[in-house]
Amino acid sequence: MSDNSGSNQMWGGRFAGGPSAIMREINASIPFDKALWRQDIAASKAHVDMLGAQGIVSGEDAALIADGLDKVAAEYEANGVPENWDLEDIHMTTESRLAELIGPAAGRLHTARSRNDQVATDFRLWVRDAMDQAELGLRQLQVALVSRAGEHAGSIMPGFTHLQTAQPVTLGHHLMAYYEMIGRDRSRFADARSRMNRSPLGAAALAGTGFPIDRFRTAEALGFDGPTDNSLDSVSDRDFALDYLMAAAQCSLHLSRLAEEFIIWASQPFGFVTLPDSLSTGSSIMPQKKNPDAAELVRGHSGRIVGCLTALMITMKGLPLAYSKDMQDDKPPVFEAASLLALSIAAMTGMVAEAKFRTDRMRAAAELGYATATDLADWLVRQANIPFREAHHITGSAVKLAESRGIALDQLSIEDLKGIDARIDDRVYAALSVEASVAARCSHGGTAPDEVRKRVAQARAALGLEESA
Ligand code: ARG
Repeated sequence: MSDNSGSNQMWGGRFAGGPSAIMREINASIPFDKALWRQDIAASKAHVDMLGAQGIVSGEDAALIADGLDKVAAEYEANGVPENWDLEDIHMTTESRLAELIGPAAGRLHTARSRNDQVATDFRLWVRDAMDQAELGLRQLQVALVSRAGEHAGSIMPGFTHLQTAQPVTLGHHLMAYYEMIGRDRSRFADARSRMNRSPLGAAALAGTGFPIDRFRTAEALGFDGPTDNSLDSVSDRDFALDYLMAAAQCSLHLSRLAEEFIIWASQPFGFVTLPDSLSTGSSIMPQKKNPDAAELVRGHSGRIVGCLTALMITMKGLPLAYSKDMQDDKPPVFEAASLLALSIAAMTGMVAEAKFRTDRMRAAAELGYATATDLADWLVRQANIPFREAHHITGSAVKLAESRGIALDQLSIEDLKGIDARIDDRVYAALSVEASVAARCSHGGTAPDEVRKRVAQARAALGLEESA
């Protein structure tokens, strides 16, 4: 075909210059790995400082290179990173610009390293920051949860199992459940961070190097606890990225569950919460609508974050040692997950901090659905020494009677109750209110308002918050 001379006639239609153009495009990671430029500059500066200190390059060249790297960084900062596919990635882009700025001395920077240990180092530094960001964001979410939980330690709402009214709980208790989950997420990020904080720099292409480098020095300069111990592992390990994604995926599941609570609570039949306007949207056709879009997107994003984890797991599966180009595909899922997670954390923090909880509606709902039936059974066990299974049965009859009359348990007369079991007396009414029900659940970690207040105080101390006087 004359109009398409350079490309393959069978399948090259969209490529201007034939297979080499395909190679150039599939090979280029600069469109996404330019996000690593800060880490790339920092790692190169640590490397060249070490090369100078070890006498591998002259002090003069080392200074020239370090200075040139600062200039490149300033250009990136001001104008962004140029995207030239011929330069493939951030490493070659930076080195080529350095050469333009300082001349042949730039060629000494790559002594005793390879892009394989370079990218492993840069990416670790990036993921380490992402872990720190997540940790920080989650702490803010915990602060919001604890403060709303403190406000509502005694606000009664229905607790659910199977999304059916089960027993009364307090809103503070419910919110503190998420404080616990987020605490585990934080510890997962912290744990992953401490495991990954070793420097692969100096592993070179795969086997180490014959130059007298000091890997401890570069590790320290980059804030690592020390160098990694096996050069093959150093350039082919992406556990750190997977650890991050696993922690992110687990965290996103928690955020999705919290988002789902808000979505349910905000629906009109529930009416437990009024979402902040700032995190809701209207409908283009139904003027009355206020949609929980932010919460729905948090729920949706968790699917994408899990997808990112799956993508990288499958990329890594079955790769022989050491580096293979497949591993260039490690970055997009991590970058995507990190930005989705950051947004999700921020959205849920805002939601928790600013939602208006409609405690009257929650309280009314807790009165419905015979939520204190277990309290009647417990009372029979305690006051009348009836075995729990029998008490459960007696209570079932009481619920059935109340239900047939469309009234609450504590609206049954004492005659009605005695008709069901003669051992019941009117002290029972004290146990049947929702207040009595929650107050009774004072076992460690239970929903009793005093227990919730105790846990909130511990949480505030753990978060380093000043005690509100
Ligand atoms: N852009 C590459 C990556 O992200 C850098 C490492 C390339 N190494 C190589 N031997 N081709 O994985």
